[in-house]
Amino acid sequence: MGSTYEIVAERLARSFDRLVSGADPVLRASERADFQANGVMAVAKALGRPPREVAAEIVATHELDGIATIAIAGPGFLNIELEPAFLASQLASLVTDERLGLALAPAPRTVVIDYSAPNVAKEMHIGHLRSTVIGDALARSERLVGNRVIARNHVGDWGTPFGMLIEYLLDLGEDRAIAELSIGDLNTFYQGARAAFDADEAFQRRSRARVVLLQGGDPETRRLWRILVDQSVAYFSQVYAKLDVTLTPEDVVGESFYNDALEGVVADLDALGLLEDSDGARCVFPPGFTNRDGEPLPLIVQKRDEGFGYAATDLAAVRDRVDRLHADEMLYVVGAPQVQHFAMVFAVARRAGWLPDTVRCEHVTFGSVLGPDRKMYKTRSGETVKLVELLDEAIERAYDALVERGTDLEDAPRRELATQIARAAIKYADLSTERQRDYVFDLNRMLAFEGDTGPYLQYAHARLRSILRRAGEVELATVDFTLANAPSHALALSLLAWPDAVASMLDGAAPHRLCTYLFDLAQRLTAFYEACPVLSAEGAVRVERLALCDLAARTLALGLDALGIAAPERM
Ligand code: ARG
Repeated sequence: MGSTYEIVAERLARSFDRLVSGADPVLRASERADFQANGVMAVAKALGRPPREVAAEIVATHELDGIATIAIAGPGFLNIELEPAFLASQLASLVTDERLGLALAPAPRTVVIDYSAPNVAKEMHIGHLRSTVIGDALARSERLVGNRVIARNHVGDWGTPFGMLIEYLLDLGEDRAIAELSIGDLNTFYQGARAAFDADEAFQRRSRARVVLLQGGDPETRRLWRILVDQSVAYFSQVYAKLDVTLTPEDVVGESFYNDALEGVVADLDALGLLEDSDGARCVFPPGFTNRDGEPLPLIVQKRDEGFGYAATDLAAVRDRVDRLHADEMLYVVGAPQVQHFAMVFAVARRAGWLPDTVRCEHVTFGSVLGPDRKMYKTRSGETVKLVELLDEAIERAYDALVERGTDLEDAPRRELATQIARAAIKYADLSTERQRDYVFDLNRMLAFEGDTGPYLQYAHARLRSILRRAGEVELATVDFTLANAPSHALALSLLAWPDAVASMLDGAAPHRLCTYLFDLAQRLTAFYEACPVLSAEGAVRVERLALCDLAARTLALGLDALGIAAPERM
């Protein structure tokens, strides 16, 4: 069974199809009716007839089960009202459905999601926040509809800086280095290494020699490198746990994983005749990519010094994901500055035949997080901001707000609740912004209990749960929906739109669409409470109102969960 929206769209499509084969209406939620259908204009154009006349013909001839009235508006929009009995039975079918009408994918797809990807021995900063939060919301939502998600945390764990980092580790002594890294003092460590490198020529020489040893597979060097990787990954895992992000250490498949495949990438591109020499580097020039002067742009696969770069690794990763992981779909949640890199990698992979047209492959880009001055978010001293410190600050503020509100809780549960609220605040602020746009990081706004915020949605859910708790045991399965007033009718339409909200989010890899849906649902609840007192109602009316509360609570909880946000029972 499809969603209500799909059922109506499909039935209406038959009327359109009769006039022009293949013509489709586009349904939208509407202020003036249950749905508005667009698409009459296109049919009229194809037939060379006035739109309103075509609309009238559709209205006169429709034999649409479940549709009560269709009115013509404006130049040819159709305003559709559903049959009350149809609406009621659609809604009733959700009461006993844990998934609230959200169908499971009939043929589950394998979706590889590349996200988070911080760099070893470097601090996870606010720039990694968006990738982590957006990627995790997409992963959760894909799982929710029954797809198989393979998360790939493509951490930067290879390259020339590791010579310097290993030498610095030796100078510091293993134990001290481990101590520094394990508490997440990655910046101090990295900057220490950088400083030693810049100050001391002998250190530079040692570092270069160390890179050669690392690439040559020298066992002791590899062991030291492992320490850096393992300590960093352990620290990243702490950050993920703190953020409640589903990434695990098993999802870490860093750049180094592809080392053995890089020779093959070059050899195969060469055999395909795609490689060209440019200043001693081996490059592919995919058609359609030019610089400002109109000259063809190279994707550098192997550098002049024989070393492989970021692009070679990503080409190897595409092959691995398609051939070995059998990806049907690949999402790369990486910031907008890498647009060209991925466009070129995908273009080369397609040309080489490594990325079949049947595999959807998308760079899920996002904008920057800005400070109050609307510049890149930095500390006062101009340093990048540590992700954990932001979260800690949000937790403190949420905790204080709970104290101020006089929330009647012991200290430990209050701290737990504050953590849930802080995560919700930060994640929702990020996810509810259309991802291509920048946003200003403002904890005050994010943590507010009013407005379009995570805590507001959590509160909307907790309020419903509180009503349901107070109502006690009530049998909802036999509910009779009458939807007698406008607010309950509007709420019902929103509840029925849940599957479409999820579909639309996944369709555009656009979490903000689900956020918009949930916020709208929460707002409809406010109007509903005003018109429909719940606990003081009696008999069948009370049951109906409680059933609406139950559906709304479950929709909010499922929706928040899909975004990676907890829905606490009390607030
Ligand atoms: N580590 C990189 C960075 O911090 C991001 C890697 C993104 N993923 C990829 N497959 N290239 O910018």
